[in-house]
Amino acid sequence: MPDKTASITSLEHIASGKVRDIYRIDDDRLLFVASDRLSAFDVVMPTLIPGKGHILTRVAEFWFEQTSHIIPNHLLTTDISELPLTPQEMDWLEGRSMIVRDLKVIPVEAIVRGYLVGSGWKEYQQSQSVCGITLPGGLQLADKLPEALFTPSTKAGAGEHDENISFEVLIDHIGQQYAEQIRDISLALYHYASDHALQRGIIIADTKFEFGLDNQGQLFLIDEALTPDSSRFWPVDSYQPGTSPASYDKQYIRDWLENTDWDKTAPAPTIPDDIVRHTQEKYNEALTRLTGTLEQ
Ligand SMILES: Nc1ncnc2c1ncn2[C@@H]1O[C@H](COP(=O)(O)OP(=O)(O)OP(=O)(O)O)[C@@H](O)[C@H]1O
Ligand SMILES: [Mg+2]
Repeated sequence: MPDKTASITSLEHIASGKVRDIYRIDDDRLLFVASDRLSAFDVVMPTLIPGKGHILTRVAEFWFEQTSHIIPNHLLTTDISELPLTPQEMDWLEGRSMIVRDLKVIPVEAIVRGYLVGSGWKEYQQSQSVCGITLPGGLQLADKLPEALFTPSTKAGAGEHDENISFEVLIDHIGQQYAEQIRDISLALYHYASDHALQRGIIIADTKFEFGLDNQGQLFLIDEALTPDSSRFWPVDSYQPGTSPASYDKQYIRDWLENTDWDKTAPAPTIPDDIVRHTQEKYNEALTRLTGTLEQ
């Protein structure tokens, strides 16, 4: 199915990120739509992953409901039947949309790492640290860290890469109170969600949160949360420290891309059908395992 982003005309389109399209409903509410686009290495792939937007929306909705005792979030409802949309628009948007509070985005990626992998593993091999935080020696690829680390980064503009920052620099950017609140809440969300996921056979190796503020300065969890796009999900049954884990996230596409001669600048190569199908299966499996439900 083609990307229908451009064909929504009943609401004002205010922004599109790499994956989401955002429309204004009224002064306080946005329509937050997960497309079927996939981004890897910060580049949007030219090939869609059909159904991905539905899966992301279901997974994020699940976690927003599960974690609202830790922090309020931007989700108001996934029921869009009251919106002034044409039947064709409704058809496309249903199931991939959330009505959310319009909040002021705090320009920080609140990353939590529970396992040693990716850029963290690369840095560890060079300097026995992750984002400048020194760790014990002798750890292997994919090892569980002695404790989960909060490693914030800046939220880069289009075409740029995020940059890791220390907790001190985070305080300089957003003030001590919000910095501490975001750190503590991010770690609490990670611990809560990773315990739940482990019982369902999934290791959440790392994840990224975003936060926003309302007019009173109250903090909300925004964007997506604990999805296969914003996290590394590993099946616990094949987990083996020292080896590169199988995954239920976009690592599969990243691995495929690493084996092409693509230089990681746009445009990315077209993704073959079998890789698309396999990616769909992986995302579906994350949804099914985590929530115990199947995408229709
Ligand atoms: N409740 C909210 N109110 C306002 N903006 C939000 C809210 N929740 C998320 N956003 C913003 O909407 C955008 C979601 O789009 P998407 O996830 O596609 O972006 P992205 O490509 O990951 O990153 P970028 O922020 O660089 O566009 C993000 O910029 C995010 O910060
Ligand atoms: Mg995003």
